[in-house]
Amino acid sequence: MTPAIEAIDVRRAYQLEGLEVQALRGVSFTIEPGAHVAVVGPSGSGKSTLMHLIGGLDRPTGGRLLIDGRDVAGLGPAELATLRNETIGFVFQSFHLLARTSAVDNVALPLVYRGLGAKARREKARAVLERVGLGHRLDHRPNQLSGGEQQRVAIARALVTDPAVLLADEPTGNLDTANGQAVLELLEQLNREAGVALVMVTHDREVAARARRRIHMRDGVIEQDESDAPETGDEIWERP
Ligand SMILES: Nc1ncnc2c1ncn2[C@@H]1O[C@H](COP(=O)(O)OP(=O)(O)OP(=O)(O)O)[C@@H](O)[C@H]1O
Ligand SMILES: [Mg+2]
Repeated sequence: MTPAIEAIDVRRAYQLEGLEVQALRGVSFTIEPGAHVAVVGPSGSGKSTLMHLIGGLDRPTGGRLLIDGRDVAGLGPAELATLRNETIGFVFQSFHLLARTSAVDNVALPLVYRGLGAKARREKARAVLERVGLGHRLDHRPNQLSGGEQQRVAIARALVTDPAVLLADEPTGNLDTANGQAVLELLEQLNREAGVALVMVTHDREVAARARRRIHMRDGVIEQDESDAPETGDEIWERP
């Protein structure tokens, strides 16, 4: 199976007033379809930079990055946008919803690039909002929703295109404990039941421990890449 994401010695440097800031200094990893990965590490270690790259929102300044088997270096801006729209769902810490737009129209927006008619887009958006428990809030604008509800709208918007990979960068950072728990349960359930690969930046040790794999970042490199033993069902049994 093609890895969902493959990074080979990926680097990202920023130019800032004549100085080079190396946010990522050579990271290599693959993310398989259906994976559940937590990205952890101190502030400034490169977690968000990494998420933007694997989400196709930004490009590496060195190394090779393949999203769904396609090298982003060979893609123009429009092709990269299409690949992102087809493959990736992104959930941010601050929900990034359109303020004057209803929940259902926020969720329907990514489908504009799919050549679907307005009615079909709204129907799909409605179905996904029902799936995240917001079927009763279709016409509410973001400021008429709680923080947790806004984040669930953002998750619905990320899901509406049926992405292979859901990227979440501190998705509970702006939520209280109860709303944060509900959002985490939803993301983890989507990974378990719908098979969407989930890559989530978190500062919460318990949340990271529930992932099957933890990528520890420090100073722009992967300090540790730790996976739980696979649940293959292959029992280890001793010879008689
Ligand atoms: N546009 C930019 N220009 C210059 N430097 C940047 C830029 N964006 C990020 N950096 C630097 O790159 C490094 C990594 O930033 P990044 O946002 O990836 O960290 P992070 O691990 O997500 O941190 P946090 O936990 O605080 O969100 C930081 O030192 C940051 O200052
Ligand atoms: Mg960050």
